[in-house]
Formats: sequence, structure tokens, C-alpha cells
Amino acid sequence: MKKIIALIIALMLALVNVAALAETTTLKAGTSPDFPPFESMDDAGNVIGFDADLAAAIAELIGMEIVFEATSFDSIVIGVQTGLYDIGISGFYITEERLANVDFSVPYLQDSQSCIVKVDSDITDNASLAGKKIGSQSGTIGIEAAEASTDADKVYPYTKALDAVLDLAGNKLDAVITDTPVAKAILAELNDASLTVAPAVSFGVEYYGIAIPKGQDELKAKINAAIETLIADGTIDELVAKWDIYGAADVE
Ligand code: ARG
Repeated sequence: MKKIIALIIALMLALVNVAALAETTTLKAGTSPDFPPFESMDDAGNVIGFDADLAAAIAELIGMEIVFEATSFDSIVIGVQTGLYDIGISGFYITEERLANVDFSVPYLQDSQSCIVKVDSDITDNASLAGKKIGSQSGTIGIEAAEASTDADKVYPYTKALDAVLDLAGNKLDAVITDTPVAKAILAELNDASLTVAPAVSFGVEYYGIAIPKGQDELKAKINAAIETLIADGTIDELVAKWDIYGAADVE
């Protein structure tokens, strides 16, 4: 009798283990898929881009499924903070200000911002941005760069960087600030000879990270370990080349 009970208990424990293994934990990731080559939506409604591939690679390493939820960029940090999303993956620069509200993974990439202007623009350096009408995506560091460069009432927030560039093309703005890979992708897509990246306007180096709620230290450690693996094994470099992050699509 004792043996049978022991057997039943052993069997039950084995079943519990199998159930635990089969359980895939889903991570809901807030993203704003208006930002190729980092994230955009394909015709089937899937989020594609550097960040989507990165998320898939991380998911495989940590044994969790990452599911994207599309939203506007300026609502992701608050969504992560309040538990609406488990993480935020959306071409986020790691900044002190954001770190007051959410944690970030270790950086997975670095770049800087660029300034898109008309080819005949008199914007030749950072100083010549003073007094100009500058557009950028709402909630982004581009808005902060614009605020630091011109008058407060000449900073124009847009839902998407692309819309700001279309207004620049239509002479409603003098400049648009966005992440350099995105600026290049937009110019390549629009193929408008009247637009260019102002070569002598430059902003500081920025680092991309994944936003994680404060207090989720175990999750953060797993994501960090995965990113470090993907840097060390060359996966990130492959994705940089695949999505042309640093630029064969140089449009100058
Ligand atoms: N890297 C910039 C920032 O952190 C812009 C990110 C915008 N991302 C997006 N998916 N639209 O503010």
C-alpha cells in the first residue's frame, strides 16, 4: 500500500513538472510600429524590423513568448509602469528621465539623431536651428533635441516621424529630428530629391534598451543575459546588417 501511495505521489510530481515545462510565459511588449527599420507593421499586421527580430531571439533564449501590442510611442513608458505591458520594445533610448519611471535592459545598440532639412536650407549647423520650426515624434528624444535647439513655440510634435517629414517636404517645417537609421529609411522611402540629412548638425550618442517595469529584477537579469549572449555570438551584428541600421542606405 505504501509503495502504491509513493508511486502515485511520484507520478503526480512528474505531471506537475511536465505542466510547468509546457507552460510558456507570454511577455506583452508595447511598441509603436511606425519606426522602420526598428519596428513597422507588415501587410499581415505583424510587427517586423530590428526590434522584432531581437525580441524573437531574446524570447528563444529566455523561453518566453514575446507578443507585440501596438500603441502610440508616447504611451508605452506609462503602460510599462502601470502593468499594461510587461516590457516596452520600441527603439527606446535609455535616458535618465525615463529611468525615473521604468528600468532598462543593458544597451543593445547605439546611434545618434539626425536632422532632416530641405537641400537648399540655411540650416548648416546646430546653432542655425535657432528660431526654426522643428518637428519630431511626440514623446521622443527628438522633441527634447528640438526644444534645446529652437523656441518652445516652434517645436511641433507629430504622431509619426514620417508625417513630420511630409510637412517638411510641404514647407510647413524647417527641420525634423529623428534617429539616424530612421531618418535614412524615411529619405530612402520618400526618394524626394529636395530632402537631405544636414551633415553638420549633430546630437549626442544614444543607447537603445528595452523598458522593464521597476522591481522586475529576475526578468531584467534574464533579458540582460540574453542581450549579452546575442552581442557576443554576433546575432546583433547580423541584425544590424539585415536591417541596414548603420547604413549602406546612406542617402547623401
Ligand atoms: N529613439 C527615440 C527615443 O527613444 C525615438 C523612438 C521612437 N520609437 C518608435 N517606435 N516610434 O525617444
